[in-house]
Amino acid sequence: MNVILAIESSCDDTSSAVIVDGTLRSNVIASQKVHEEYGGVVPELASRAHQQNILPVVDTALKRAGVTKEQISAIAFTRGPGLLGSLLVGTSFAKGLALALGVPLIDVNHLQGHVLAHFVEPSAELIAQTPSLQGVPIRHPSFPFLCLLVSGGNSQIVLVKAYNNMEIIGQTIDDAAGEAFDKCAKVLGLPYPGGPWIDKLAKLGDPAKYPFAKPNIPAYDYSFSGLKTSFLYTLRDLLKEYGVETIDELAEKIPNLREDMCASLQATVVDILMRKLKKAASDLKINQVAVAGGVSANSALRQAFVDYGKKYRWSVFIPPFSFTTDNAAMVCQAGYFKYLDRDFCAIDEVPFAKTQI
Ligand code: KG4
Repeated sequence: MNVILAIESSCDDTSSAVIVDGTLRSNVIASQKVHEEYGGVVPELASRAHQQNILPVVDTALKRAGVTKEQISAIAFTRGPGLLGSLLVGTSFAKGLALALGVPLIDVNHLQGHVLAHFVEPSAELIAQTPSLQGVPIRHPSFPFLCLLVSGGNSQIVLVKAYNNMEIIGQTIDDAAGEAFDKCAKVLGLPYPGGPWIDKLAKLGDPAKYPFAKPNIPAYDYSFSGLKTSFLYTLRDLLKEYGVETIDELAEKIPNLREDMCASLQATVVDILMRKLKKAASDLKINQVAVAGGVSANSALRQAFVDYGKKYRWSVFIPPFSFTTDNAAMVCQAGYFKYLDRDFCAIDEVPFAKTQI
């Protein structure tokens, strides 16, 4: 029996998962509420919260999987990219446990984990316990496929040639899509993280109401900083036009202001993301297209995948909600593939903060 325990602590979610003989048995996530009042993740508070959460989270993941720590074959952990202080907690815990149990360690790249979330095979018991996994067909892409990886820190088009062979063919030259959502939401006075709030309010708004600037960047790269500025300037001009100082005052004068701003922003982000993806798919003649990362929870982006799939005859792969934001299931899956290849890392491996795949 192969038992892989995984630990994910790259940002503000402490998560642990267990895969037994290729099947995901548990995926436990402890989110950190402490950052909400600051309007963004505070790195020092995140690492402290990881320290508090990691032991109960790992313990619960093992119990829910029905295995003991003595049965663990290898321990996978997120090595980066992410917040260094947060990564250090997961990395140190994984190393300590691997040393104590005498089992190999597997370092996992968080971004590759997001892509490999498409290969997770949850057990029937886990599906029964997890509403977001129910009624979702488990389908895996075949190689090569394109994956749009969109999160709070990354916006990339990844050409996935094999489990262990990925190439970033396009990426943002400034802000990530999630970052643009979060920053614009903050300007509107919405809570952090703003992405889900934009999604919610956009359902009540007019996506054509505010035409925001779209970037003109070569090849498959993205840019979202111009859009962010365009969003800000639109609000600035409206404040001036209506002679008010705050967004709340403006919202009293313009019915549906926040909803229309959110709908227009979301439609623009989705359009930018999908156009480049379409270009890549047609240039490379690839018709298997996947989406991954926190922003893949966005309902308009998911719908765009379905629509583009129909229009351009793509086979589309959209992960279940529980595997979109940071989770250890995807790290466990990446770790499982590396385990099969006996691709272990040294005990003195250190975390890395910056994007690499
Ligand atoms: O992958 P993730 O959980 O964390 C990292 O960035 O590593 O992604 C978080 C990002 C945040 O920017 C959040 O606002 C965004 O995903 N997000 C969404 C939605 N749910 C989460 N953005 C738009 N619509 C959503 N429904």
